Amino acid sequence: MQKMKHWTPILAATVLVGCTATTNYYGKDAAAESVTANAAPSIAPATAQDALRPYYRSLQRVMPQAPKGVSLASDTVVSRIAFGSCVNENRDMAFWDVVAAQKPQAFLFIGDNVYGDTGTTNAAEIPTLAASYRKLSSRQEFARFRLAIPMMTTWDDHDYGANDAGGSFAFKERAEQLFESYWGASDEVRSRPGVYSSRIVGPEGKRVQFILLDTRFFRSDLARIPYQAERPPLGYYIPNHDPDATVLGDAQWKWLAQELNKPADLRFIVSSTQVITSAHGYESWFNFPKERERFYGLLAQKNIENAILLTGDRHSGGFYRDRVEGLRRPLTEFTSSSLNFAFGNGDSGSREPDKKRLGGFWSVPNFGQIDIDWATRKVSMSLRKDDASVIETESVNF
Ligand SMILES: [Fe+2]
Repeated sequence: MQKMKHWTPILAATVLVGCTATTNYYGKDAAAESVTANAAPSIAPATAQDALRPYYRSLQRVMPQAPKGVSLASDTVVSRIAFGSCVNENRDMAFWDVVAAQKPQAFLFIGDNVYGDTGTTNAAEIPTLAASYRKLSSRQEFARFRLAIPMMTTWDDHDYGANDAGGSFAFKERAEQLFESYWGASDEVRSRPGVYSSRIVGPEGKRVQFILLDTRFFRSDLARIPYQAERPPLGYYIPNHDPDATVLGDAQWKWLAQELNKPADLRFIVSSTQVITSAHGYESWFNFPKERERFYGLLAQKNIENAILLTGDRHSGGFYRDRVEGLRRPLTEFTSSSLNFAFGNGDSGSREPDKKRLGGFWSVPNFGQIDIDWATRKVSMSLRKDDASVIETESVNF
């Protein structure tokens, strides 16, 4: 695993020469950064983002774009979707045709959609990320898929720009520009920091809400175990109990509460990282226990009995279930990862015992398929190999 390198003050000094920092969100008010010939910078930038914003606005390079896609009509009665994560743009892409052949009405691409982490030079443009998007665009299987299946996207660390990175990643606004440009984000998403988004699709009585969280842009720093000679077998992060530590950040929490006020018959809440499990020390919401409690508390407060969590990141797939205080029904989480970059060749569940996991933990290339039967109000979920054969199934009534 590559460690995140932090941005250095030297770069700040470089990009600040001749620029006046602004507190505007990038690209919205170019006049505010006007520089007069003799004016010295009068305000020191408060953050790396403040310092970098004028530089990012000055970049003339053409942003990479995803191949032409199709959209999902708002009146669609959703009966089948698919989702997946963790695609290495240099590896085999045959799975795209396999997923398309299942004829999902939409595909949720939920993070690590490319592997574009910065290298050790930490160039502020994140050229590695732009190159990864361009490479993905060049893959004909992906271009075919785009023409066939509507997509909704969020990001995880490797398409955010740095391994396991969060809100302190100095180049995050460049990563956001690249994401929003590549995936053709809505004006609403472009108008605010971060890439979180939502949609409600379907007629009254059959409305499906898709909530795609951003677990990177605002996230507090991870807490690590102290150095030890032996590498821990299941990750090196420990819960961060700082009362101010956050996963979603204030604005996204407020937005999520408003989203959950909207009427919907079935909801899919996407988090790139796992939510329910406390069984490992890699990234998950267990890194921020207070935030996980806040999330469960919000579901209970809004009486959300019809939500299913979709998660990725782990290079393995499986199902999880937990009780949420205040809700009648247990909460189910479906993890699918990776589409073409698995770390094993079977069930690795014994390596990571977890009472909240319902079956195995499958370290094979996989995707998730979700079928909705509106007559019986039943959601059937299947974790599938990259040949579409079924690995495990679970179901939820709503
Ligand atoms: Fe990840």
